[in-house]
Amino acid sequence: MPAPVAPAESPGRTTDGQPQSAIVLEDVSISFEGNTVLDGISFSLERGETKALLGVAGAGKSTILKLTMGLVKPDHGNIWVLGQEVSAMKEEDLFELRRKLGMVFQESALFDSLTVRDNVAYRLIEEGVPEDKIQKRVEEALRFVELEHTLNMFPGELSGGMRRRVAIARAIVDQPEILLYDSPTGGLDPVTSTTIIELIVKQRDVYHTSSLLVSHRLQDAFTMATHYFDRSKNRMVPVNGAPIDTRTSFLVLRDGKVIFDGSAHELATSRDEYIREYIS
Ligand SMILES: Nc1ncnc2c1ncn2[C@@H]1O[C@H](COP(=O)(O)OP(=O)(O)O)[C@@H](O)[C@H]1O
Ligand SMILES: [Mg+2]
Repeated sequence: MPAPVAPAESPGRTTDGQPQSAIVLEDVSISFEGNTVLDGISFSLERGETKALLGVAGAGKSTILKLTMGLVKPDHGNIWVLGQEVSAMKEEDLFELRRKLGMVFQESALFDSLTVRDNVAYRLIEEGVPEDKIQKRVEEALRFVELEHTLNMFPGELSGGMRRRVAIARAIVDQPEILLYDSPTGGLDPVTSTTIIELIVKQRDVYHTSSLLVSHRLQDAFTMATHYFDRSKNRMVPVNGAPIDTRTSFLVLRDGKVIFDGSAHELATSRDEYIREYIS
Protein backbone atom coordinates (compact mmCIF):
# COMPACT_ATOMS: atom_id res chain seq x y z
CA MET A 1 0.00 0.00 0.00
CA PRO A 2 1.34 3.48 -0.79
CA ALA A 3 2.18 5.62 2.22
CA PRO A 4 -0.51 8.18 2.98
CA VAL A 5 0.33 11.58 1.59
CA ALA A 6 0.31 14.31 4.23
CA PRO A 7 -1.95 17.19 3.22
CA ALA A 8 -0.02 20.32 2.35
CA GLU A 9 0.10 22.97 5.03
CA SER A 10 -2.13 25.90 4.19
CA PRO A 11 -3.39 28.96 6.09
CA GLY A 12 -6.55 27.08 6.98
CA ARG A 13 -4.99 23.76 7.93
CA THR A 14 -2.20 22.37 10.07
CA THR A 15 0.11 19.66 8.73
CA ASP A 16 -1.99 16.95 10.39
CA GLY A 17 -4.90 18.12 8.28
CA GLN A 18 -6.91 19.66 11.10
CA PRO A 19 -8.54 23.00 10.42
CA GLN A 20 -6.71 25.43 12.69
CA SER A 21 -8.69 28.54 11.92
CA ALA A 22 -12.41 28.85 11.42
CA ILE A 23 -12.05 31.35 8.56
CA VAL A 24 -9.02 32.71 6.71
CA LEU A 25 -9.16 35.34 3.97
CA GLU A 26 -5.90 35.89 2.15
CA ASP A 27 -5.47 38.85 -0.18
CA VAL A 28 -9.10 38.77 -1.30
CA SER A 29 -10.32 41.26 -3.86
CA ILE A 30 -13.70 41.63 -5.52
CA SER A 31 -15.29 44.21 -7.80
CA PHE A 32 -18.87 44.64 -8.91
CA GLU A 33 -19.47 46.40 -12.23
CA GLY A 34 -15.97 47.85 -12.24
CA ASN A 35 -16.34 49.12 -8.69
CA THR A 36 -13.70 47.68 -6.33
CA VAL A 37 -15.43 46.67 -3.10
CA LEU A 38 -12.70 44.62 -1.39
CA ASP A 39 -9.09 45.31 -2.29
CA GLY A 40 -6.60 42.81 -0.88
CA ILE A 41 -8.37 41.82 2.34
CA SER A 42 -6.60 39.42 4.73
CA PHE A 43 -7.68 38.34 8.18
CA SER A 44 -8.38 35.20 10.13
CA LEU A 45 -11.01 34.13 12.61
CA GLU A 46 -9.65 31.57 15.06
CA ARG A 47 -11.69 28.73 16.54
CA GLY A 48 -13.98 30.00 19.27
CA GLU A 49 -13.28 33.61 18.40
CA THR A 50 -15.86 36.27 17.57
CA LYS A 51 -14.96 39.08 15.22
CA ALA A 52 -17.08 42.17 14.64
CA LEU A 53 -16.89 43.56 11.09
CA LEU A 54 -17.32 47.31 11.07
CA GLY A 55 -17.47 49.88 8.31
CA VAL A 56 -19.84 52.31 6.65
CA ALA A 57 -22.77 51.14 4.48
CA GLY A 58 -21.39 49.71 1.26
CA ALA A 59 -17.97 48.95 2.79
CA GLY A 60 -18.28 45.28 1.79
CA LYS A 61 -19.26 43.70 5.13
CA SER A 62 -22.10 41.55 3.76
CA THR A 63 -19.90 40.65 0.80
CA ILE A 64 -17.36 39.12 3.21
CA LEU A 65 -20.10 36.91 4.67
CA LYS A 66 -21.23 35.87 1.16
CA LEU A 67 -17.64 35.06 0.19
CA THR A 68 -17.35 32.93 3.33
CA MET A 69 -20.44 30.96 2.34
CA GLY A 70 -19.18 30.59 -1.22
CA LEU A 71 -22.21 32.47 -2.53
CA VAL A 72 -19.93 34.84 -4.45
CA LYS A 73 -16.42 34.15 -5.75
CA PRO A 74 -13.48 36.50 -5.27
CA ASP A 75 -11.73 37.95 -8.32
CA HIS A 76 -8.44 37.31 -6.53
CA GLY A 77 -7.24 35.66 -3.33
CA ASN A 78 -8.16 32.64 -1.22
CA ILE A 79 -10.79 31.89 1.40
CA TRP A 80 -10.49 28.94 3.78
CA VAL A 81 -13.47 27.91 5.87
CA LEU A 82 -12.82 25.11 8.39
CA GLY A 83 -9.70 24.26 6.42
CA GLN A 84 -11.38 24.06 3.03
CA GLU A 85 -10.66 26.51 0.24
CA VAL A 86 -14.13 27.68 -0.72
CA SER A 87 -13.27 29.73 -3.79
CA ALA A 88 -12.20 26.49 -5.55
CA MET A 89 -15.04 24.25 -4.33
CA LYS A 90 -17.72 22.61 -6.42
CA GLU A 91 -21.32 23.51 -5.64
CA GLU A 92 -22.12 20.13 -4.04
CA ASP A 93 -19.12 20.41 -1.70
CA LEU A 94 -20.14 23.96 -0.83
CA PHE A 95 -23.56 22.65 0.06
CA GLU A 96 -21.93 20.25 2.56
CA LEU A 97 -19.78 23.02 4.00
CA ARG A 98 -22.74 25.41 4.38
CA ARG A 99 -24.42 22.85 6.63
CA LYS A 100 -21.71 23.66 9.17
CA LEU A 101 -22.46 27.38 8.99
CA GLY A 102 -25.37 29.15 10.64
CA MET A 103 -26.49 32.45 9.21
CA VAL A 104 -28.58 35.22 10.72
CA PHE A 105 -29.52 37.38 7.75
CA GLN A 106 -30.12 41.09 7.69
CA GLU A 107 -33.82 41.70 8.51
CA SER A 108 -34.30 38.14 9.85
CA ALA A 109 -35.51 36.74 6.47
CA LEU A 110 -38.10 34.36 7.95
CA PHE A 111 -40.65 32.56 5.79
CA ASP A 112 -43.92 34.39 6.52
CA SER A 113 -46.10 31.47 5.43
CA LEU A 114 -44.42 29.02 7.81
CA THR A 115 -44.92 28.77 11.57
CA VAL A 116 -42.07 29.61 13.92
CA ARG A 117 -41.59 25.89 14.42
CA ASP A 118 -41.25 25.22 10.68
CA ASN A 119 -38.97 28.23 10.20
CA VAL A 120 -36.61 26.97 12.90
CA ALA A 121 -36.91 23.36 11.68
CA TYR A 122 -36.25 24.31 8.05
CA ARG A 123 -32.68 23.06 7.74
CA LEU A 124 -33.37 19.91 9.71
CA ILE A 125 -36.36 19.05 7.49
CA GLU A 126 -34.20 19.64 4.38
CA GLU A 127 -31.52 17.36 5.78
CA GLY A 128 -34.05 14.60 6.46
CA VAL A 129 -33.57 14.56 10.24
CA PRO A 130 -36.16 12.26 11.92
CA GLU A 131 -39.27 14.00 13.23
CA ASP A 132 -38.73 13.29 16.95
CA LYS A 133 -35.21 14.73 16.76
CA ILE A 134 -36.47 17.78 14.88
CA GLN A 135 -39.03 18.51 17.57
CA LYS A 136 -36.46 18.19 20.35
CA ARG A 137 -33.89 20.43 18.65
CA VAL A 138 -36.46 23.07 17.68
CA GLU A 139 -37.70 23.22 21.25
CA GLU A 140 -34.12 23.52 22.54
CA ALA A 141 -33.28 26.30 20.10
CA LEU A 142 -36.47 28.21 20.94
CA ARG A 143 -35.83 27.75 24.66
CA PHE A 144 -32.35 29.17 24.13
CA VAL A 145 -33.86 32.38 22.72
CA GLU A 146 -36.70 32.24 25.30
CA LEU A 147 -39.44 31.93 22.72
CA GLU A 148 -40.69 28.40 23.30
CA HIS A 149 -44.27 29.72 23.58
CA THR A 150 -44.24 30.97 19.96
CA LEU A 151 -43.88 27.51 18.38
CA ASN A 152 -47.19 27.63 16.52
CA MET A 153 -47.27 31.33 15.75
CA PHE A 154 -46.47 32.96 12.41
CA PRO A 155 -43.68 35.55 11.95
CA GLY A 156 -46.28 38.24 11.22
CA GLU A 157 -47.62 37.86 14.75
CA LEU A 158 -44.23 38.62 16.32
CA SER A 159 -42.41 41.87 17.09
CA GLY A 160 -39.21 42.75 15.20
CA GLY A 161 -37.08 41.69 18.15
CA MET A 162 -38.88 38.35 18.47
CA ARG A 163 -38.43 37.70 14.75
CA ARG A 164 -34.73 38.34 15.14
CA ARG A 165 -34.63 35.85 18.01
CA VAL A 166 -36.40 33.26 15.84
CA ALA A 167 -33.77 33.90 13.16
CA ILE A 168 -31.07 33.16 15.77
CA ALA A 169 -32.89 29.97 16.83
CA ARG A 170 -33.00 28.90 13.18
CA ALA A 171 -29.28 29.54 12.76
CA ILE A 172 -28.27 27.60 15.89
CA VAL A 173 -30.73 24.71 15.55
CA ASP A 174 -28.08 22.27 14.32
CA GLN A 175 -25.26 23.79 16.42
CA PRO A 176 -23.15 25.05 13.51
CA GLU A 177 -19.38 25.30 13.79
CA ILE A 178 -19.45 28.88 12.56
CA LEU A 179 -22.11 31.55 12.94
CA LEU A 180 -22.41 34.50 10.57
CA TYR A 181 -24.54 37.37 11.78
CA ASP A 182 -25.41 40.19 9.39
CA SER A 183 -26.44 43.31 11.33
CA PRO A 184 -28.45 41.28 13.85
CA THR A 185 -29.60 44.42 15.68
CA GLY A 186 -30.35 46.46 12.55
CA GLY A 187 -33.64 48.34 12.78
CA LEU A 188 -34.18 47.46 16.44
CA ASP A 189 -34.50 49.92 19.32
CA PRO A 190 -31.61 50.02 21.84
CA VAL A 191 -33.37 47.95 24.51
CA THR A 192 -34.35 45.20 22.06
CA SER A 193 -30.86 45.33 20.54
CA THR A 194 -29.40 44.58 23.95
CA THR A 195 -31.54 41.44 24.26
CA ILE A 196 -30.18 40.27 20.88
CA ILE A 197 -26.59 41.05 21.85
CA GLU A 198 -27.14 39.15 25.09
CA LEU A 199 -28.21 36.07 23.12
CA ILE A 200 -25.17 36.32 20.87
CA VAL A 201 -22.95 36.59 23.95
CA LYS A 202 -24.76 33.60 25.47
CA GLN A 203 -24.19 31.53 22.32
CA ARG A 204 -20.54 32.60 22.29
CA ASP A 205 -19.91 31.74 25.95
CA VAL A 206 -22.00 28.57 26.21
CA TYR A 207 -21.05 26.94 22.88
CA HIS A 208 -17.86 28.85 21.92
CA THR A 209 -19.04 29.02 18.32
CA SER A 210 -16.64 30.85 16.01
CA SER A 211 -18.53 33.89 14.76
CA LEU A 212 -18.30 36.73 12.31
CA LEU A 213 -20.70 39.52 13.13
CA VAL A 214 -21.44 42.47 10.89
CA SER A 215 -22.31 45.40 13.06
CA HIS A 216 -23.54 48.80 12.02
CA ARG A 217 -23.46 49.94 15.63
CA LEU A 218 -20.08 50.04 17.31
CA GLN A 219 -21.69 50.09 20.75
CA ASP A 220 -23.14 46.60 20.20
CA ALA A 221 -19.73 45.17 19.42
CA PHE A 222 -18.18 46.94 22.42
CA THR A 223 -20.89 45.49 24.65
CA MET A 224 -20.03 42.02 23.35
CA ALA A 225 -16.32 42.50 23.94
CA THR A 226 -16.78 43.81 27.48
CA HIS A 227 -19.46 41.40 28.76
CA TYR A 228 -19.70 37.68 29.32
CA PHE A 229 -22.60 35.38 29.97
CA ASP A 230 -22.88 34.38 33.61
CA ARG A 231 -24.71 31.05 33.65
CA SER A 232 -25.50 31.17 37.36
CA LYS A 233 -27.25 34.53 36.89
CA ASN A 234 -28.59 33.55 33.44
CA ARG A 235 -27.65 36.94 32.04
CA MET A 236 -24.84 38.96 30.54
CA VAL A 237 -22.60 40.82 32.99
CA PRO A 238 -19.66 43.22 32.52
CA VAL A 239 -16.17 41.68 32.65
CA ASN A 240 -15.03 44.62 34.84
CA GLY A 241 -11.44 43.57 35.28
CA ALA A 242 -12.22 39.88 35.91
CA PRO A 243 -9.69 37.51 34.26
CA ILE A 244 -12.15 36.59 31.51
CA ASP A 245 -11.24 36.69 27.84
CA THR A 246 -14.36 37.29 25.75
CA ARG A 247 -12.37 36.35 22.63
CA THR A 248 -14.06 39.16 20.72
CA SER A 249 -12.09 41.29 18.30
CA PHE A 250 -12.80 44.03 15.78
CA LEU A 251 -12.08 44.51 12.10
CA VAL A 252 -12.67 47.87 10.44
CA LEU A 253 -13.03 48.18 6.67
CA ARG A 254 -12.45 51.36 4.75
CA ASP A 255 -12.22 51.88 0.99
CA GLY A 256 -11.86 48.14 0.42
CA LYS A 257 -9.00 47.69 2.91
CA VAL A 258 -8.69 46.43 6.46
CA ILE A 259 -7.62 49.51 8.42
CA PHE A 260 -7.90 47.90 11.86
CA ASP A 261 -7.82 44.33 13.19
CA GLY A 262 -7.46 44.00 16.95
CA SER A 263 -8.99 44.07 20.41
CA ALA A 264 -11.57 46.42 21.91
CA HIS A 265 -8.83 48.03 23.97
CA GLU A 266 -6.63 48.56 20.92
CA LEU A 267 -9.58 50.04 19.05
CA ALA A 268 -10.48 52.39 21.91
CA THR A 269 -6.88 53.60 22.21
CA SER A 270 -6.09 53.78 18.47
CA ARG A 271 -4.43 57.00 17.34
CA ASP A 272 -5.64 56.58 13.76
CA GLU A 273 -7.69 59.68 12.98
CA TYR A 274 -10.37 57.90 10.96
CA ILE A 275 -10.85 55.33 13.73
CA ARG A 276 -10.97 57.99 16.43
CA GLU A 277 -13.62 59.79 14.40
CA TYR A 278 -15.47 56.51 13.78
CA ILE A 279 -15.64 55.48 17.43
CA SER A 280 -16.42 58.93 18.83
N1 LIG B 1 -24.17 41.05 -6.25
C1 LIG B 1 -23.81 42.34 -6.38
N2 LIG B 1 -23.89 42.99 -7.56
C2 LIG B 1 -23.52 44.28 -7.69
N3 LIG B 1 -23.06 45.03 -6.68
C3 LIG B 1 -22.96 44.45 -5.47
C4 LIG B 1 -23.34 43.08 -5.24
N4 LIG B 1 -23.12 42.79 -3.95
C5 LIG B 1 -22.65 43.92 -3.37
N5 LIG B 1 -22.55 44.91 -4.29
C6 LIG B 1 -22.05 46.27 -4.01
O1 LIG B 1 -20.89 46.13 -3.23
C7 LIG B 1 -20.82 47.16 -2.25
C8 LIG B 1 -20.68 46.53 -0.88
O2 LIG B 1 -21.89 45.86 -0.55
P1 LIG B 1 -22.12 45.16 0.84
O3 LIG B 1 -21.10 44.11 1.04
O4 LIG B 1 -23.54 44.75 0.87
O5 LIG B 1 -21.84 46.37 1.86
P2 LIG B 1 -22.17 46.49 3.43
O6 LIG B 1 -22.75 45.20 3.88
O7 LIG B 1 -20.87 46.84 4.08
O8 LIG B 1 -23.15 47.62 3.56
C9 LIG B 1 -22.06 48.00 -2.42
O9 LIG B 1 -21.72 49.13 -3.18
C10 LIG B 1 -23.00 47.08 -3.17
O10 LIG B 1 -23.86 47.84 -3.97
MG1 LIG C 1 -24.65 44.71 4.53
